Formats: sequence, C-alpha cells, structure tokens
Amino acid sequence: MGDSIGIVILAAGKGTRMKIETPKALVPALGRPLLDYVVNAAMEFTKNSSLIAEVGIVVGHKKEMLEAWWANHPHKKTIKLAWQKEQNGTADALKSCFNDQPHFWNHKYTLVACADTPLIEASEFKLLFSELNSHPELVGVAATFDIENPTGYGRIISGGKGFHIVEEKDATPEERKIKTVNSGFYILKTSHLKEVLGSISNNNKSGEFYLTDLFQQKFIVKPVKFKTEQAFLGINTLEQLADVNGLLKKRKLSKLFSDGVQFLNPKSVHLDSDVEIEIGSVIYPGVTILGKTKIGANVTVESGSFLKNCTIESDVQILANSYIEEAHISNKASIGPMARIRPGTEIGPESKIGNFVEIKKSKLAAGVKVSHLSYVGDAEIGENSNIGCGFITCNYDGANKHKTKIGKNTFIGSDCQVIAPLEIGNDAFVAAGSTVTKNVPDGGFAISRAQQVTKEGAAKRFLKTKKP
Ligand code: UD1
Ligand code: MG
Repeated sequence: MGDSIGIVILAAGKGTRMKIETPKALVPALGRPLLDYVVNAAMEFTKNSSLIAEVGIVVGHKKEMLEAWWANHPHKKTIKLAWQKEQNGTADALKSCFNDQPHFWNHKYTLVACADTPLIEASEFKLLFSELNSHPELVGVAATFDIENPTGYGRIISGGKGFHIVEEKDATPEERKIKTVNSGFYILKTSHLKEVLGSISNNNKSGEFYLTDLFQQKFIVKPVKFKTEQAFLGINTLEQLADVNGLLKKRKLSKLFSDGVQFLNPKSVHLDSDVEIEIGSVIYPGVTILGKTKIGANVTVESGSFLKNCTIESDVQILANSYIEEAHISNKASIGPMARIRPGTEIGPESKIGNFVEIKKSKLAAGVKVSHLSYVGDAEIGENSNIGCGFITCNYDGANKHKTKIGKNTFIGSDCQVIAPLEIGNDAFVAAGSTVTKNVPDGGFAISRAQQVTKEGAAKRFLKTKKP
C-alpha cells in the first residue's frame, strides 16, 4: 500500500473581486465550474501514482450551491466537504477542513490547492510531489513561478533554511517588485502542518489568517519554480476569467486538432470543455457547441449552427444555422439548413430533416424524410416514411400534449395536418392537403379535402383593380 495524501481544495471564498453572485468556485469556464478542473487534475494525479487519496473541499460562501454541486458529483464518495463558517483567510479555511474531517490528520501528506486556478493539470501536482518525496529533509514545498506583472500574488522571499511569502497588501514597495510569486499550491508533511497551523496569526493588513505563513525561513521548506505561469493563473476578476477561458479554449482546440478535427476558423467557434469530436469532422466558422455534446467521425457542422448536449453519430451533415438541443442524431443523417431539433428527439440513420423543420420529442426511424417547413411534435415515424412539405402534428389541445404514430413506408402528401392522438399505419398514403382526424390502417389511403368547384370566366367578378 502506498502513502496517503489528503487533497484540500479551498473553495469557501466570496470571490468579492468577481462582482457576481455565483460563488467563485462554481463560476463556469468553458461551461464547467472552475472547481471541477482542480478536482479532475487532483484525481488524475493520484490515479497515476501509488498514493491513496482523499479530497476535501472547504465550502463557505453560498455553501448550499456547493453542496448541490457535490451531491451530483460522480466521485462524491472520495470527496468530503468541510464548512468554513466565516471567511477569515486561507489558513482558517484549511483549519476548517481538519476540524470537520479530523481523519485528514492521518494522511501522511496534505496537498493544498485553490479552486480558482482551472489551468492546473496532474503534471504540476506530480512534479511538486516528486520534489518533496525525493528530499526527505523537506517539510513542505510550494509551487512558484515568475510573472511579468505580479500584481495580486504573494511574493517569494528566499532566505534562511527556506523562504517566506509576503502578500501584496503587506509588501514593501521593494518587495512588490519581486516577480517570483506564490501559486497557492502546496504539499506539506501533515506532521509539519499539525505543528504550525494552529500558531498562524491574523496580524497583517487584511486581518486574515494567511496559509502562506506556513512557509517560514526557519523551516526546511522549498519553493519549486515552474517554467511557465500558465498552469497557475488564478482567477480573481472577470477579466482574468476571460483570459483563462481563452487559454482553456486554445488547449481544447489543440487537442481536437491533434485528434484530426478541422476548424475552418477556430477563433469564431465557441465550444465547452466537455465537448467530444472524432477524427475527420469539419467545423465551419461561427459554430457553438456546448455541454456534453458528442460528435462522431466525419461529421460536418456548417456555419451558425448551435449544438447543446446532443449526440451526433458519424457521417452526419449539420447544414447551416441549425439548432439542436438534447437530441440524438444517427449515422449519415442530414439536418438543416435552418432546422430546429428540440430535446428528446431521436433521428434515425440516413434520415433527412430539411429547412424550416422543427422536431420535438419525437422518434424518427431510419430513412425518414421531413424535407421542408414542418412541425413534428410527440410523434413516432417508422422507417422510410416520407413526410411532405408543410406537415403539422396538431399535438396540443391547450391543456395536454397528444401523440402521433406513423408507420413505415408511409407517404404523407404536402400540407397535411394530423389531429393527435392519432395513428397512421404502415404502407399508408395520405393525400396532399388533408386534415387527418381519424386513424388510417396499414395500407390505407386517406383524403380529406373539399371538392373543387371551377366556374369558367367567373374570375373577373373577384379580381379587383386599384383606383388610380
Ligand atoms: C492566494 C495566496 C497568494 C497567491 C494566490 C495565488 C494567501 C493568503 N494568498 O491569494 O499568496 O499568490 O492565492 O492565486 O493564501 N478561500 C477560502 N476561505 C477564505 C479565503 C479564501 O476558502 O477565507 C479560498 C478561495 O475560495 C480561493 C482560495 O482560497 O479558492 C484563494 O483565495 P483568494 O482570495 O483567491 O486568494 P488570493 O488573494 O488569490
Ligand atoms: Mg485567488
């Protein structure tokens, strides 16, 4: 069995500088809460090590929202929450974790991470840990980096056996010029923490208990300098959030490019972190892909299309300006241009949904065609049926929604309406211009339109001319 490590993520802060209501840890970056990035990186790090890990998240400001996040988390068994009643600083936050979850004292190591640094990856944790692990005399390490504009970060001051950290507010003008800064990520021997954590005071300009005071020149502690600042960029303002979003998007696009996905104009595309796209797919300019959307191989998504939480199988064509949400589109189907596919819809393989068609909560089997100007809601349509132009399922009576079922190999002519609930069988034929109010059996033919009357030469009685 390997050594054990407690990973404590500080997420109780108000995020005052963000000026928004959502607690900072839950603010989304590329559609995913900031906290998720740090949790994922920590889990990835421990998964690939011999360490036995447990994650503790310190919550405080709007803790109900973080509790709801935790309740839906797939790894909630490995994650413990701790409550920091008042946000009195980062050291106080860590103390809250040990108060609420005392068994965290039993872990040999404690890794401390901030929730507001979503660019962190498992590799940074790995490097930091290997420094501590390979120097048995060390009691703690802190990840540091050099940055051109160090504003807002704690400055690293080396000396004695180790180093100490001065927060911006407490720094002298000379100290503020220092460009080596504290990332807010530390790994300590828990035995050292136990000795020092209780003695940290709030005797500083903020009146807060600073975790950075764990590092003092009299302790054998080491700043571990990372080559680039990127992984540690902390988000304290909305402007920093926008910058980090840009970097996350770049990272996401690089990964997709290397997987064989083409973006014709990557700058104009918006996509969330969890989006998956397979080899050979081509994304045109101005496309938005959100949530947990999965796109298979060799799919084309043309300009102006918006996809949210949907699954698109391989070889599908999404033509320009289509809007698809919580739907499943099977192999070789074609959607749009200008189609709207609403939640709960399943489009079968090789089906064709054309322009100005809206489909809601309906299941279309393979090879179905709804090519123009139609509304299909709460319906099931069987294989290879053809729905003509201007078809409407009249599914709503003002109070309830009703179902329409159409069998396979059925032909519905243009400009038909079905008044649901209603069933039309297999191999049936409904003549154009019909309003269908009764079920049509397998093989049946239905027509419901008024007889035409034509009177020769009578048009002039109806044609009007404008007076000059
Ligand atoms: C902190 C560090 C600073 C470092 C910077 C890196 C301290 C005192 N300073 O400053 O040296 O350069 O991170 O980004 O630690 N939090 C709580 N409870 C609190 C206060 C904060 O849980 O009472 C959490 C916040 O939610 C956040 C994290 O701790 O996730 C860091 O807090 P923040 O206010 O962002 O600290 P910084 O000013 O960025
Ligand atoms: Mg911060």
